[in-house]
Amino acid sequence: MRVLFLNPAGCIGGAERVLLGIGRALQADGTVAVRLLTTSDGPLVDDARRLGIGVDVVPIPPALARLGEQSFAGRAAWAAGFRAPLAAPYLLRLRRAIAAWRPDVLHTNGLKAHLLGALTRPGGARLVWHLHDYVSSRPFTGRLLRGCARRCDTAFAVSEDVAADARAFLPRVPLVTIENGVDLARFAVAGPRTRLDPDAALTPPGTIRVGLVATYARWKGHDVFLRALARLRHLPIRAYIIGGPIYETDSSQWTRAELRALAAATGVADRVRFLDFAHDVAPVMRALDVVVHASTSREPFGLVIAEAMSTGRAVIASRAGGAAALVTDGADGLLHDPADDAGLAVAIARLAADAADRHRLGAAARATAERRFDDARAAAAVLASYRHLLRNTHRQASTAGAVA
Ligand code: GLC
Repeated sequence: MRVLFLNPAGCIGGAERVLLGIGRALQADGTVAVRLLTTSDGPLVDDARRLGIGVDVVPIPPALARLGEQSFAGRAAWAAGFRAPLAAPYLLRLRRAIAAWRPDVLHTNGLKAHLLGALTRPGGARLVWHLHDYVSSRPFTGRLLRGCARRCDTAFAVSEDVAADARAFLPRVPLVTIENGVDLARFAVAGPRTRLDPDAALTPPGTIRVGLVATYARWKGHDVFLRALARLRHLPIRAYIIGGPIYETDSSQWTRAELRALAAATGVADRVRFLDFAHDVAPVMRALDVVVHASTSREPFGLVIAEAMSTGRAVIASRAGGAAALVTDGADGLLHDPADDAGLAVAIARLAADAADRHRLGAAARATAERRFDDARAAAAVLASYRHLLRNTHRQASTAGAVA
């Protein structure tokens, strides 16, 4: 079986980490030939090659890359873009690159890739949309996807919540829910820990390290986190904002300068450190006492939460979307209401005050991760779905042949 992944960027966010995990498992399986096609160069390309996965980069024109749902100007252009002369030569190039590899399955990983895949899929390939997003919450892209839903053979939804959304919005598309997996060995409880501060004086004994690990998308709730910290000035907390603006779409992300200004305005600038995404995020997680997730709108899955739970951290997650289903409040983590900085502050204060509670929640979180987030399980489900799809295709083809 030949599987081609199509990813709409060369950077690494949650969706790309999931894709790499599946790629690694498929490589190990040995019965599948995997290749990756991206629209730009970047760390994803390097990581895939390190796994032995061949990669093609078909660079997307910058004007197309920047188009996103968030920018109003972008919306009109996004619609026009696929018909406009801007897009046509690119689509042709992409179609050729995809067809040249003769995939049995074209597995697209992100909204833009779903559209590109639908427009360029070769005749012999099945199209699988791996849904990491709420399609209905993207009025623009969502509508375009609905328009080409017939070309999609199966969609994988990363959570029950994403599946429910897709079922309502794309009723014709066959859906399989495959919860994301985590590499449980890499995200082990024991292992190296990143030194988060070069100066030990910043974290005297008794300091509680609290971190938000996220891309700089505005809905990830960095502002909520900073406001919660402002309510906790009396506690020995040092905070870390780990991540950066990784995607290329316009105006949907914070800049670091904006976040620094916000930290200054809320009076917590001296207690917050900004760090880039580490290539390996597990040692960063292990260095934190508490991992906060603060998304202000529905989080499709929340891979960072699953990773933090796997490393046995005490997590506080926002109660919305797929993320709410990862944590059982009070049993293996804590939940707070989205955008409720007061509620988040209460949860952080509770964990900061009680090491035993942190350890109890962390141990339970690891047990949940072992039961639920094993990436071998996720990859097996992906492979089973590909096989099912191809079997049905062949059956349909032979039935058609018999009738003819
Ligand atoms: C996207 C979603 C996030 C999910 C990740 C992996 O980044 O926003 O919730 O964890 O994809 O599926």
